[in-house]
Amino acid sequence: MPPEIGKTLLTADQIAARVRQLGADLARAYAGREPVIVAIMKGCVLFLADLVRTWPGPLDLEFVAAESYDGTAGGAVRLAMPRGLASRVAGRPVLVVDDIFDTGATLAKVCRALEALGPAEVRTLVLFRKRRPRGRPRRAAARRTPARRPRRPGARPDWVGFDIPDRFVIGYGLDYCGRYRNLPYLAVLREDR
Ligand code: IMP
Ligand code: MG
Repeated sequence: MPPEIGKTLLTADQIAARVRQLGADLARAYAGREPVIVAIMKGCVLFLADLVRTWPGPLDLEFVAAESYDGTAGGAVRLAMPRGLASRVAGRPVLVVDDIFDTGATLAKVCRALEALGPAEVRTLVLFRKRRPRGRPRRAAARRTPARRPRRPGARPDWVGFDIPDRFVIGYGLDYCGRYRNLPYLAVLREDR
């Protein structure tokens, strides 16, 4: 096992069970409607693929890409939206899906951009949310992971899969320098080497 992979926080089975519950919650919430799921690339690909297979009703899938300009969570976010997204979102219920909620900057930016396209509503789902006090950065900045910024006050996803410790995590879609997205479970990145 690569030495950067630390303690397992959530096993593949634990994640699968929670994803099934979320699918059931969402199916109830969107019963009789046909939402447009807007997935934020690339971190949510594993989650998205598992989630939509639990969804019995009709839905549309759209993709946007978000990246921090400087590679740090909570920094300025660069957003790429496909041509023609406006016509597929206008007047429809939109569900934005992301892998992890840290400062909330990414989700806020995507929601603002989508609101401008005239959807019926925009709601949000994240699989992981870091447990940390609002408006206060983590105690000690980790050596090799991005600098920390405070959480946006008032930012709250509509659905959250798991609240997790305030650590840099990898696996189940989440990367460190492009690696480890393919791990089927969620682990802590080891920074003590
Ligand atoms: P936010 O904009 O600060 O909420 O950060 C959200 C984005 O930063 C996520 O969509 C991830 O791409 C990335 N991110 C935040 N924390 C982690 C982590 O612990 N591991 C991997 N990526 C992370
Ligand atoms: Mg992301």
